[in-house]
Amino acid sequence: MSSSHPMIKAENIHKSYDSLRVLKGVSLSVDKGDVLVIVGPSGSGKSTLLRCINLLVYPDSGSIWIDGILTTHHEVRPEWVREKVAMVFQSFNLFSHLRAVDNVTLGLRKIKGINPEEAREAGIHLLKSVGLEDKIDEYPANLSGGQQQRVAIARALAMNPKVVLFDEPTSALDPEFISEVLDVMTRLANEGMTMIVVTHEIGFAKGVADHLVFLEGGRVLEEGGAREVIESPRRRRTQEFMSKILG
Ligand SMILES: Nc1ncnc2c1ncn2[C@@H]1O[C@H](COP(=O)(O)OP(=O)(O)OP(=O)(O)O)[C@@H](O)[C@H]1O
Ligand SMILES: [Mg+2]
Repeated sequence: MSSSHPMIKAENIHKSYDSLRVLKGVSLSVDKGDVLVIVGPSGSGKSTLLRCINLLVYPDSGSIWIDGILTTHHEVRPEWVREKVAMVFQSFNLFSHLRAVDNVTLGLRKIKGINPEEAREAGIHLLKSVGLEDKIDEYPANLSGGQQQRVAIARALAMNPKVVLFDEPTSALDPEFISEVLDVMTRLANEGMTMIVVTHEIGFAKGVADHLVFLEGGRVLEEGGAREVIESPRRRRTQEFMSKILG
């Protein structure tokens, strides 16, 4: 039964900030284990859409289901949604006064009430999985951007989410650190994690994403198989956008 519904389904999502209409009826669906990449110009509503999906903001109208459970309409607690739907931000958002391992295990300790020894063991395991076994007790200030983002990914995985949303995870990084983060994301995708990734890293999108959505002006302008939309977009506007980001 559980395989009969998509892992993420959003239907006709509208969101405005005062008089600014940001999302104008967005629908999408992501099957379990699939990776959806979202591209689109600045201000098209990409971050707002991700924030609606993990209920950092409530849509004004429309419905969202996570693993078959309707999350909008206030039927479930937003905290439940944020445990199931983890988010990785462009700017890492690590606590500077906490060591890498303590950043990773904060949720386990404070929300799940797991004892410090057990949490630390889990944190070390997670940091190893992102290639940071030698940085367990470092503070964020002593880590490169790529390392900080990998700590943030380990933190996102700590609560054992069903879905991870990435909002331009590599766009704040120096070019030399981008691939180490994309490698971790690729491995996560290959292990079967369901992911939505806002990114303009087209190599990643082509190689890893199953589907791609092109958002403009708060609407889905084109969508389809990632490789098809990148290599042969049907709409003129998508063609223009792709040729811009492909350089
Ligand atoms: N909390 C907010 N209050 C008011 N306006 C907002 C808020 N968040 C976003 N907006 C506006 O909504 C529009 C869409 O923003 P959003 O961040 O979703 O776009 P984006 O596609 O992620 O852009 P970018 O590529 O620059 O990250 C923008 O015009 C933005 O200024
Ligand atoms: Mg954004």
